[in-house]
Amino acid sequence: MTTSTDLPIVGFVGTGHIATFHSKMLKISGVPMTRGGCFDIDAERSAVFAQASGSTVMASADEVIASSDMVYICTWTSEHQSLVEKCIAAKKPFFCEKPLSIGLSQAAEMHAAATASELTHQCGLILRRSPAYLWARELISDPGAGAPMAVVFRDDQFIPVQGHYKSTWRGDVTKAGAGTLLEHSIHDVDMLRFLIGDVESVSARATYRHGIEGIEDVVAASIGFANGAVGTLTTIWHDNLSRPSLRNVEVFCEHRTVVIAGDDWFGPVTWSNTDGTTGSLEGTELLEKTAPLAIGDTNPDGAFVKAAVDGTAGFPDFSIALEAHRIVEAMYRSARDNGNAVRVASVQP
Ligand SMILES: NC(=O)c1ccc[n+]([C@@H]2O[C@H](COP(=O)([O-])OP(=O)(O)OC[C@H]3O[C@@H](n4cnc5c(N)ncnc54)[C@H](O)[C@@H]3O)[C@@H](O)[C@H]2O)c1
Repeated sequence: MTTSTDLPIVGFVGTGHIATFHSKMLKISGVPMTRGGCFDIDAERSAVFAQASGSTVMASADEVIASSDMVYICTWTSEHQSLVEKCIAAKKPFFCEKPLSIGLSQAAEMHAAATASELTHQCGLILRRSPAYLWARELISDPGAGAPMAVVFRDDQFIPVQGHYKSTWRGDVTKAGAGTLLEHSIHDVDMLRFLIGDVESVSARATYRHGIEGIEDVVAASIGFANGAVGTLTTIWHDNLSRPSLRNVEVFCEHRTVVIAGDDWFGPVTWSNTDGTTGSLEGTELLEKTAPLAIGDTNPDGAFVKAAVDGTAGFPDFSIALEAHRIVEAMYRSARDNGNAVRVASVQP
């Protein structure tokens, strides 16, 4: 019989929106926070988090790390690297939110350090376990679909310095690193690789309509994939508060078209084939169909805890995050160069 003292002690550094999400997912996966500690530089936030999750407020990140079996790093982005270093020094497995850092060179350093540590580590690219994306990938990689030819990926949300996010740090380039592409659409770049394959070259343009230094609010990128497919990513931070976060993805293969619309997790995913047949999957049916496809566990947090307890590799790890950072950096370099094409392989930290 499992008793509460058999459960791993999970600590949190940074106790905002995404920390709350993870603590709820941990509870669902059978690992309540009641034995763990938390720390936030904003004492009010850590108190609210502690009360809601059942964890204990601690005086510092060091105290959380020392007292935990594994640690979640959920601060704003600029703090991730130093906290990952602390976890490595203390030999504690860590889950670090995306983006890994505010720039490619720091992300590369974090990847090198995490790999060398041989500790279980996972990054917050949670769409890798999304039923909608898992099913779309099955449909695209099915030989009957033919080769992927093109993808149209649109992601829009209101700029999150307002509304329910009320996140001032997302308007501060020293904390966020950049705007909609790095902070939000690093997920999309990762899903483009997941669905279609490796990216060879990009050409991009950015706008800064909100006038916030270093925080772009639109990036429109044209993408060439190594397998010959082409595509576009358009990511937008607007001021339409009725659109919190919406993605629409259309993939055109030789003999099949696949569309992900609606919810990032529950779909629907719809498809149509050359022979006139069509299909649609969403909700519980989509979850059941894709459960065997999720690596480790369908719940990203359950998967991390399991891997950390077993001492196995977390998924997705920092190598996957680093590839997304490299593509993002290539897009920024292209945007700074009037949209001229940049080969991803030429982008070194
Ligand atoms: N995986 C996802 O889908 C996803 C979604 C949202 C946010 N994120 C990422 O998660 C991170 C946090 O985002 P959020 O939306 O939770 O922001 P948030 O503002 O709600 O929370 C961040 C918290 O970090 C705290 N903090 C900052 N520096 C700290 C430090 N050195 N030590 C302790 N606490 C510190 C802040 O006080 C704040 O409470 C960001 O990197 C963001 O990009 C990921």
